[in-house]
Amino acid sequence: MTEPTMSLKKLQGKVAIVTGGATGIGEGTAHLFAQHGAHAVVIADVQDEKGRLVAALIGLDRCSYYHCDVADEEQVKAMVDWIMQTFGQLDIMFSNAGIASSSD
Ligand SMILES: NC(=O)c1ccc[n+]([C@@H]2O[C@H](COP(=O)([O-])OP(=O)(O)OC[C@H]3O[C@@H](n4cnc5c(N)ncnc54)[C@H](O)[C@@H]3O)[C@@H](O)[C@H]2O)c1
Repeated sequence: MTEPTMSLKKLQGKVAIVTGGATGIGEGTAHLFAQHGAHAVVIADVQDEKGRLVAALIGLDRCSYYHCDVADEEQVKAMVDWIMQTFGQLDIMFSNAGIASSSD
């Protein structure tokens, strides 16, 4: 993916969570958010090795991995608290993690 020009850096200074960011759509989104100038992208996932690798590939200066099972409300709350303490703001939450299932 090519680096967007400055005019396309719509997320300059923003802090974002991407749940399920260790693989698939979430991984792609984490890269895109960083390319668009996000100050911090937090990958929230349960796949620690993959999540840490994606954060390292994006760059640890602007991407972090946080182990968080989004099915557990207390873990989500702890992550948001950590983000507020660390970055002082939370602008975007992409709730991507989930399990596909058939439905009527
Ligand atoms: N890929 C598609 O065509 C498609 C179509 C429709 C909807 N979706 C939905 O989009 C989302 C992402 O799809 P994908 O194809 O990238 O899936 P994926 O399986 O590649 O990635 C999902 C990620 O979510 C993480 N995850 C799962 N449960 C979690 C939990 N409880 N807490 C934290 N992280 C968790 C996984 O570890 C994984 O990294 C899913 O919700 C999926 O149901 C995908």
